[in-house]
Amino acid sequence: MRVSYSLVLANVLLWGSGTAFAQASSAYANSLAPYIPSPQIIVERMLELANVQPGETVYDLGSGDGRVLIAAVQQFRAKAVGVEIMPEIAHKATERIAKLGLQDQAKVITGDIRDADLSSADVVTMYLPTDSNDLLRPKLEKSLKPGTRVVSYSFKVPGWKYNRMEEDDPYGNGRKHAIYLYVMPPKK
Ligand SMILES: C[S@@+](CC[C@H](N)C(=O)[O-])C[C@H]1O[C@@H](n2cnc3c(N)ncnc32)[C@H](O)[C@@H]1O
Repeated sequence: MRVSYSLVLANVLLWGSGTAFAQASSAYANSLAPYIPSPQIIVERMLELANVQPGETVYDLGSGDGRVLIAAVQQFRAKAVGVEIMPEIAHKATERIAKLGLQDQAKVITGDIRDADLSSADVVTMYLPTDSNDLLRPKLEKSLKPGTRVVSYSFKVPGWKYNRMEEDDPYGNGRKHAIYLYVMPPKK
């Protein structure tokens, strides 16, 4: 999940201008992960593993094209909020949600996960590398209510003990990918 941002930044420097440039460069500088969508089968398994119930609120931290939000609404009748730092990706996800007529149940906040208010989340999904999960851990511990289910695809949250782990072979190539389920404990 490591990316060299220099090439991307060079492109931004060449083509960007004004506010768009400032937004894009700040987004790249604060990025915790590149945009790599989860396979659809994994999206469904993550939401199943979290046992998402109708009316619950699902947050996808780094929501990409909105696929987790859309599945949460369409297949689990949940409400869904995405937080996405890249303005263009967030915009496209918002358009996709609107095209499907799901704008009353799903929304994307353009911004940094580190600034998001997660207090209303019943379920949090993430597909971020281990060091980003580690960085976010204090925020998650502080702001998530007890009982919130956190599901992480591929990468553990260091220092947490998972409640369940499932392995899938989403690409059918014999390479297993893990999904970790954590349940937030009572506050100390
Ligand atoms: C690996 S992709 C996962 C996308 C989506 N959750 C999925 O499973 O298909 C990670 C996403 O996190 C976004 N991201 C990275 N750093 C972020 C940050 N600090 N705040 C919000 N989003 C961020 C990236 O732009 C990217 O879209």
